[in-house]
Amino acid sequence: MKAIVATDQAAEAAGITLAQRPEPTPAINDVVVEVHASGFVPAEWEWPSTWADRSGRGRTHAIIGHEFAGVVTALGYGTTGLSLGQRVFGITDWHRDGTLAEYAAVEARNLAPLPGDVDFTVGASLPISGLTAWQGLFQHGRLRAGQSVLAHGAAGAVGAVVTQLAREFGGYVIGTGRAADRQAALEFGANEFLDLEHDDLGDIGGVDLVFDVVGGDVQRRSASILRPGGTLVSVVGPVEARPVDGLAIDFVVESVPGQLVEIVDRVRDGRLRTHIGTVVSLDDALPALNPTERRKGKTVVRVRP
Ligand SMILES: NC(=O)c1ccc[n+]([C@@H]2O[C@H](COP(=O)([O-])OP(=O)(O)OC[C@H]3O[C@@H](n4cnc5c(N)ncnc54)[C@H](OP(=O)(O)O)[C@@H]3O)[C@@H](O)[C@H]2O)c1
Repeated sequence: MKAIVATDQAAEAAGITLAQRPEPTPAINDVVVEVHASGFVPAEWEWPSTWADRSGRGRTHAIIGHEFAGVVTALGYGTTGLSLGQRVFGITDWHRDGTLAEYAAVEARNLAPLPGDVDFTVGASLPISGLTAWQGLFQHGRLRAGQSVLAHGAAGAVGAVVTQLAREFGGYVIGTGRAADRQAALEFGANEFLDLEHDDLGDIGGVDLVFDVVGGDVQRRSASILRPGGTLVSVVGPVEARPVDGLAIDFVVESVPGQLVEIVDRVRDGRLRTHIGTVVSLDDALPALNPTERRKGKTVVRVRP
């Protein structure tokens, strides 16, 4: 089968190749899925799991991409809960071969049914951004109606979902980003917008929840405007900023099928709009996956037309 593999971290864009790989076989409790569309997060390039397995041994030519939508074509020994021909979507194990390939072997417990009226491209755009936003706001941030949320990168893939879900659940959202992101952030539902390059975070007053997708100095400055008892949630690595009187949490998103159902239901009834940027075919994907180039919204590779 065709697959996109990572060959050399130092070579950046030149270290991603379209290669031929054997089709996977399903292990215990796995399914094999015919991949129709796969999302891609450029930062995957920097994740240790792209280059080493769970024992720390080097992974050579790992298949990249870890969120997808497709159709089940084989069941592993003991697999229950999914059936042949079923449409599914979800996140795959970071340490296993991924989804930028014609087929992927995936633990069945990581997948949810993809409703028949949801396009595979849309399905593939939802798992990482949608679950990251959901888990950050509700599990880790414990958002309550009436609270204020500082949603960094509100025009980006994760931030756009954070903004919409926080509004739906009664939050007051201050979206941030670059000056050019203002309109998009407001269209995703932010009550206000703050231009991180020209405005002063200190002018906001206090917020109950910071959702950080930027890190560094932005994260540190954000911690200082938390209200007493507030929470800083970060998805960009160990939190360096410690709020004086509040919590700081960093986490890596997990595939939770029940939450995937909540997210896709919202897309179907119009409560949630996914933010797809670039869509390319597998054969033409390499330039669009260049980890050094920034693109707005989720990059989705359409593996089958
Ligand atoms: N831990 C986890 O489980 C998890 C899950 C999902 C994502 N992530 C991480 O979260 C980050 C965001 O992911 P994403 O898919 O939402 O990326 P994205 O679509 O590129 O969105 C990030 C947004 O933040 C903006 N931004 C970044 N730095 C900024 C700065 N200094 N000032 C103003 N705006 C800034 C970006 O603008 P520009 O494009 O103009 O820079 C972009 O609009 C990535 O680092 C990703 O790896 C982590």
